[in-house]
Amino acid sequence: MENLSRRAVLTGACAILTMGFVNIPSAANASVKRLSDGRLSVRVKSIPELASIGGAVQIGKLKGTPVGLARTGDTKYVAFSLACPHQGVKVVKSENGWVCPAHQSEFESDGDLLLGPATSRLTRIPVRLRGGNAVIG
Ligand code: FES
Repeated sequence: MENLSRRAVLTGACAILTMGFVNIPSAANASVKRLSDGRLSVRVKSIPELASIGGAVQIGKLKGTPVGLARTGDTKYVAFSLACPHQGVKVVKSENGWVCPAHQSEFESDGDLLLGPATSRLTRIPVRLRGGNAVIG
């Protein structure tokens, strides 16, 4: 009985720890904090995928929606929803940007549309750079 309880506790603890970081690269975990108002604060210099212009990474979720962050300049970043504008399926990282696994719409690393059936880019989310942190939301 005691072993079963210990297993249940450990399984539950692992599930809780995993829930907040699903699909966030391990390098990004320590660099992403959720602020008290729900926005995400990202220490961009600590994320290897954002080391160069054109780099992009899934960074976490805002209000249940997966969020991508891309570097577009020396000190410029854009954030966007990873929900495909066609039918809402979550896009995934591809070699040159993002691709939707449902109907193969393709997007550039900054979320701009490359190929339909989607007819618009990934929905932008406000992002501000503050002291080396990108505050998203
Ligand atoms: S849901 Fe993404 S292309 Fe259809």
